[in-house]
Amino acid sequence: MALPRPLVLGNWKMNGLRADGLTLAGRLAERAVKLSGTLGVFPPATLLAQVAQRLVGTGIMVGGQDCHEKPSGAHTGSIAAPMLRDAGAGAVILGHSERRHGLGEDDALVQAKTRAALAAGLTAIVCIGETEEEYAGGRTLDVLERQIAGSLPLDLFTRGAKADSLVIAYEPVWAIGTGRTPSLDEIGRTHTRLAEMLGPRIEGDLPPLLYGGSVKPDNAADIMAIAHVDGALVGGASLDADGFWRIYTAGGGA
Ligand code: PGA
Repeated sequence: MALPRPLVLGNWKMNGLRADGLTLAGRLAERAVKLSGTLGVFPPATLLAQVAQRLVGTGIMVGGQDCHEKPSGAHTGSIAAPMLRDAGAGAVILGHSERRHGLGEDDALVQAKTRAALAAGLTAIVCIGETEEEYAGGRTLDVLERQIAGSLPLDLFTRGAKADSLVIAYEPVWAIGTGRTPSLDEIGRTHTRLAEMLGPRIEGDLPPLLYGGSVKPDNAADIMAIAHVDGALVGGASLDADGFWRIYTAGGGA
């Protein structure tokens, strides 16, 4: 089933002890009386089960921030997609720039993880985006084309599988956590090109396309009003329940 728009997903990254995470989840639960869009939180793995438990019945999506490409085995420190699912997750973020660039994950690995997530019944939130140097060199679209071809299991979709468990987040690496964003025009052009790149490669409806990178309550409405921007992936501003909820409503969510 298609995910209702807007999709506003909060990546908590490596933030939050138990008390913080449960308080934040509780504050969102109070606001989420009857969600018209898709609101999601991606707590650190240590909090996943408890946050998922706290949010049962609210309709708020809960997900992991990464998974291993194998379903089980001798992989110290890693978490498999079925384990996320078992902990109460319905989704997982894959290929975030902090993993691609901080931990050296390449497109092939992101694709393997995406397959594992889909096989476990999770919605895969696959992140793509250019570095500052690639942006400055005018190579953004080439990079996105390469990441789409390399990171997504496109063969599944060209063979008729529906892309309803897939979400793509365009996050310019240089906009993450910096307070800088591309202009609205640039975001619009990039998302239009993304839709054009994905169209011939995916049967049926396009997956939702999110923008991520320094989305805040005061720029969220403008960004989410752009054509082919179906929502936002939010980092820092998702740690404050009030601000995160304002981003969601700015995108048209109630
Ligand atoms: P930011 O992070 O909102 O703090 O820029 C976005 C992200 O990493 O998804």
